[in-house]
Amino acid sequence: MGALEIKPGIFWVGAIDWAVRDFHGYITPNGTTYNNYLIKDKHITLVDTVKHDFSDYTIDNIRDIVDPAKIENIVINHIENDHMTSIDRIMALAPKAVIYITERGKKGLDRFFDASRWNIRLVKTGDTLSTGSKTILFLETPMLHWPDSMMSYVKEDKLLISQDGFGQHIASTARFDDEYCDQYSITALEHAVRDYYANILMPFGPLIKAKLAEIQKLGLEIDMIAPDHGIIWRKDPGKIVKMYLDMANGKADLRVVIIYDTMWHSTEHMTIPIMEGIRAAGVDVEVIKLRSTPMSVAVKRFWESRAMLVGTPTLNNIMFPSVAEFLAHLRGLRPRNRMAGAFGSFGWGGGAVKEACEEMKKIGLDVVEPGMEVLYKPGREDEKSCFEFGKQFAEKVIAYHQKF
Ligand code: FEO
Repeated sequence: MGALEIKPGIFWVGAIDWAVRDFHGYITPNGTTYNNYLIKDKHITLVDTVKHDFSDYTIDNIRDIVDPAKIENIVINHIENDHMTSIDRIMALAPKAVIYITERGKKGLDRFFDASRWNIRLVKTGDTLSTGSKTILFLETPMLHWPDSMMSYVKEDKLLISQDGFGQHIASTARFDDEYCDQYSITALEHAVRDYYANILMPFGPLIKAKLAEIQKLGLEIDMIAPDHGIIWRKDPGKIVKMYLDMANGKADLRVVIIYDTMWHSTEHMTIPIMEGIRAAGVDVEVIKLRSTPMSVAVKRFWESRAMLVGTPTLNNIMFPSVAEFLAHLRGLRPRNRMAGAFGSFGWGGGAVKEACEEMKKIGLDVVEPGMEVLYKPGREDEKSCFEFGKQFAEKVIAYHQKF
């Protein structure tokens, strides 16, 4: 796909990755894009590059607009590999270009490349770069999504080039929200946003709120948000900002997601009466088996739901390994404002349910104890107990949900 003008004199020159299905461990069934932008002005300026495998695509797209040797400025908003590993290819074509980057970003650039041969200018929040008729204002956004990160705001066009923020992993011929929603739906786009947020940005909710407040305080008018992944927001940029604020504030649906694994189907058997008990309390419920579901899908559904019940058999006195792996993954994502509980079966001594509860407390979840354990295989009485366990848990979830 060739270059595309998104604002007068500003072009998308990125690449579409239709094939990527694993993005550092996060499943991407819809592929992704690596978006970067070229400002054709008195001083030709490139904002971000792309993943190295796609260097030829972005160079060809730049050539559609200008000779790459004429690039005078290169802004690197973020040094993660998917956005800057073609920088050496670009610098070989435009060796005199000045790189604008945060101090922390330069440290990373030095580690990835021999950057001492390049002309580098460090920037911080409030610094500007004139491209001639346009002014780029830099906004540091540390931890969104790496410590080096920043965003670039083109004042005259009210355009926020937002790097990872507001992105989605979508490969599509549509470049804009209105085009994508015509082809698919706003629901599909919203799902992609939540998927991205849950798996990448969940730990940074407080920082996102603070950064959005800072942007508001600066009085920046924004009529287009152009992230480095996926769809550009031109029809309704306010929608994605509101979605981010909601997610940063911990918004969730009144739902319990049961996330479990099983050895000989006993823990799995327990999920059915527990699910029925939750429904009887009037709460939506979904059941996810870990070994049948990609981790990032389980994470997204967890994040969209107000509460989780973890089901784990006991294996050698501890949690089942796939459940332990899931909880370890969740610990890194530092979820807040979510309720949790645990259940499971055991054959010898038990212990996994208690361990799961302890682990979930460490994660920061609001854990309801005790959990529920069943010896060997649930019988009729156990099924009734499971139903009651699910119902009582759901009633607590209703009360908990009202706090938000
Ligand atoms: Fe798309 Fe943090 O990289």
